[in-house]
Amino acid sequence: MKEDQKRCDLKYREREFDPSQGASTILKKFLRFFPRGKALDLASGEGRNALFLAEHGFDVEAVDISKTALSRAEKSGLSRGVRIKTVAADLDALVIPKDEYDLILDFYFLDRRLISKIKRGLKKDGMVVFETYTTDQRDRAAGGPSKTKYLLKPNELLRLFRGFHILFYREGIFREGGKRRAIASLIAKKQVKGER
Ligand SMILES: C[S@@+](CC[C@H](N)C(=O)[O-])C[C@H]1O[C@@H](n2cnc3c(N)ncnc32)[C@H](O)[C@@H]1O
Repeated sequence: MKEDQKRCDLKYREREFDPSQGASTILKKFLRFFPRGKALDLASGEGRNALFLAEHGFDVEAVDISKTALSRAEKSGLSRGVRIKTVAADLDALVIPKDEYDLILDFYFLDRRLISKIKRGLKKDGMVVFETYTTDQRDRAAGGPSKTKYLLKPNELLRLFRGFHILFYREGIFREGGKRRAIASLIAKKQVKGER
């Protein structure tokens, strides 16, 4: 944890906080369809998505390994008149309580071991919103992870959420955060076996 934390903190300290970084496109576009209540933002960074949800009435917990990122998220929340709960933790070790959240976000953090935790942590009819880079991003020299294990393979995100009701899915090159990126995005709802 300590080494990863230092590395992530350093990355944030090397660049100024950019208050203009907006919430993700799909979060804004599909906001009205998300179940209101408790939301969890995994690897929240400086909180662009967590704060957006808080501004729209969600009770939000933001988890990240970087205390620098989380303290920027808190500060930014104060200036926007909203509060989020921040948790400094390594997602490798995080326990997500069962049936706890109405909405779980994972943006640009791929650790496949988290998928079963996300599924378990959602309430019935709770939703997951997931977006990250695909292997096509490697050829674009436009940022993102270089290691294959941190990139989604074709259709992989769909397969990871098998058993959920897929409400939205896209995979390809899309403009996000002012740049064209190779990404996959998914919104899916937890269903309880036998109720489909
Ligand atoms: C690419 S950023 C994405 C931030 C945010 N989700 C967004 O889309 O703006 C990845 C985030 O993962 C965090 N992170 C990296 N390893 C982590 C770990 N093991 N546990 C928790 N957070 C981690 C980093 O500190 C960073 O904030």
